[in-house]
Amino acid sequence: MEWFGEHPPTAIVTGGASGIGRAVCELLARDGYRVAVADRDKAGADEVAHQIDGHAFEVDVADEASVVAMFEAALAVFGGTLDALATPAGIADTTPFMDLTVETFRRVNEINVVGTFLCIREAAKRMRSGGRICTVASVAGKRGGGLSGTAAYAASKGGVLALSRSAARALAPQGIAVNCVAPGPTLTPMLDEPFKNPGQRERVEAMTLLGRSGEPREIAEAIVWLLSPRSSFVDGETMTVDGGLMLD
Ligand SMILES: NC(=O)c1ccc[n+]([C@@H]2O[C@H](COP(=O)([O-])OP(=O)(O)OC[C@H]3O[C@@H](n4cnc5c(N)ncnc54)[C@H](O)[C@@H]3O)[C@@H](O)[C@H]2O)c1
Repeated sequence: MEWFGEHPPTAIVTGGASGIGRAVCELLARDGYRVAVADRDKAGADEVAHQIDGHAFEVDVADEASVVAMFEAALAVFGGTLDALATPAGIADTTPFMDLTVETFRRVNEINVVGTFLCIREAAKRMRSGGRICTVASVAGKRGGGLSGTAAYAASKGGVLALSRSAARALAPQGIAVNCVAPGPTLTPMLDEPFKNPGQRERVEAMTLLGRSGEPREIAEAIVWLLSPRSSFVDGETMTVDGGLMLD
């Protein structure tokens, strides 16, 4: 594959210890990237980093100081260059609307929206022209939930959709592209709890054209393409990867 220059490309993946983020780390390593696996689950990040010959970093994306420290540590390991950032780190919430506390609403949005913002900002400080960023929203952000997540989650993912477009506008003059992937239901630990509810998996999967959930790798392929120079004319885009769920 053609890359930016002489060195192997470098990437930071938040939420890299599990699910979609883990699959992104594996595919980036396959494509020759040096990968920083960043997660609040350090043991999980260590395991993935070991598997792909990458580097593990502990981070809480909702904590500004933790995010800054992680970027500094990763860039030190990378020798000062950063070509790509993916931000799958996130949490779900299934609290019914009328039971939702402000505390829970804030926590979900701090991780999913503020966490994504902090990582984009810190990456953009350190990227050269040609850098590429891919965020992770959800079809819940487009539909207003209605699958597994409820109001706090849907609002946070709507926030990620708008944040990504806004960042694309802001960072284009620096030559940095920002795109977003909005997955449909994907078989990761995030869906373990909701899919325990009788009939829930069947109901959600029947909403897709393909009649099934996605595998983490099927979402990661889109993210990795958007991070690569192969998508060089794509910017400010949201790619929905949902087995046809949004086609109404
Ligand atoms: N699984 C789905 O069906 C689905 C659908 C649409 C969107 N998504 C989104 O995809 C992304 C990845 O989710 P997944 O399904 O792989 O879930 P997952 O639970 O398997 O992985 C999420 C990872 O994020 C990490 N994380 C959570 N909070 C963090 C924090 N504050 N700081 C650092 N790391 C943190 C977790 O430790 C975990 O490793 C999420 O943003 C999720 O909302 C998932």
